[in-house]
Amino acid sequence: MLLKELHLKQFRNYEDLSLSFQDGLTIITGENAQGKTNLLEAIFLLSLAKSHRTNQDREMISWETDQAIISGLIQTKNYEFPLEMHLTQAGKIGKVNYLEQEKLSQFIGKLNVILFAPEDLQIIKGSPGGRRKFIDAELGQAQPLYLQTLLDYNRTLKQRNRYLKEFGYRSTFDELYFAVLTEQLIDQATILIQERKRFVKALEELAQPIHTELSKGRDILELSYKANHSTLNGIDESELKDAYQDLFNQAKEREKERGVTLYGPHRDDLEFLINENNAQFYASQGQQRTIVLALKLAETELLKQLTGEYPVLLLDDVLSELDDGRQHILMSHIEAKVQTFLTTASIQGIELDALNKAQILKVRNGEIYSE
Ligand SMILES: Nc1ncnc2c1ncn2[C@@H]1O[C@H](COP(=O)(O)OP(=O)(O)OP(=O)(O)O)[C@@H](O)[C@H]1O
Ligand SMILES: [Mg+2]
Repeated sequence: MLLKELHLKQFRNYEDLSLSFQDGLTIITGENAQGKTNLLEAIFLLSLAKSHRTNQDREMISWETDQAIISGLIQTKNYEFPLEMHLTQAGKIGKVNYLEQEKLSQFIGKLNVILFAPEDLQIIKGSPGGRRKFIDAELGQAQPLYLQTLLDYNRTLKQRNRYLKEFGYRSTFDELYFAVLTEQLIDQATILIQERKRFVKALEELAQPIHTELSKGRDILELSYKANHSTLNGIDESELKDAYQDLFNQAKEREKERGVTLYGPHRDDLEFLINENNAQFYASQGQQRTIVLALKLAETELLKQLTGEYPVLLLDDVLSELDDGRQHILMSHIEAKVQTFLTTASIQGIELDALNKAQILKVRNGEIYSE
């Protein structure tokens, strides 16, 4: 999949910008705070209908204006189509082929991207929420059904939590209504967990050889999906529903006391093991970086398997952290097959081979100069 053109109007510090891209590597270079990450953010937005660094969409609209338009021309194996995102004070509108999409979920995933930014080291060291986001972002853009189930699950969860919370002020508890909500929640939870487990397994298989290569054979990486109650782990997919039902039966009184849903995929986690030790606690900086790079390259392959096309790879400021050997491995994985956008303050220190083939764009204060 290829992003052939990008147009920005009043997006961040870009007043009016039009760019055409080649396949292969595009290097975006420039000093700090000139607009390098802003460009990647715009591409990310065309894929996932949101920013990777803020939940406040209006932050992306240029100061002193009230609307931004981000559009791109996408080319897949079979056809070419425009994508457009309008950010306004009132909300956002996504268009595919100039047609306004009723729901943003219909816009998401038309362009597939994988982003790797320095903050992604948090996937290893940070909270479970970040790891769930990591899984959801990929599955959500590759599988519309997963995205829909996730949205449905979140809605049911909210409803169930509200009912549990309100019980504190109410004297009656409608058992039947609560049982229906619980059953709905379990149905949706089971689908999410099955998909996540399959995803984690597939990702592990793809990441392991890449990781071994990156760590020069020293470290073995393993991934394991961790549901937030031990009885839910290590059981067959077919037993999951019953196990959840048992758990919720046991937990009902406690849930009423606490006013919140205690189990479910919204509390699950993903564990990374390096040589059988939990990487969250034991991995060094360099090991964390290696794991994340292996994950991102594996995700790229996995999206190809799931959708039939390679995603667009966005690498924000990560090259300078990699030694020559790892840079070389990275380049050999993306070369000629994955369109890649890479930002860096300086092109010094970038492997020469890669530089020679790249399109180089220089950013200064929201304006782009070709080199
Ligand atoms: N809504 C906005 N309107 C106008 N300008 C903005 C807006 N949001 C951010 N900016 C400008 O964009 C700049 C940051 O751009 P960006 O994050 O892309 O920098 P960068 O080139 O990636 O820098 P670094 O090398 O430090 O990562 C900010 O300094 C700010 O001036
Ligand atoms: Mg930046």
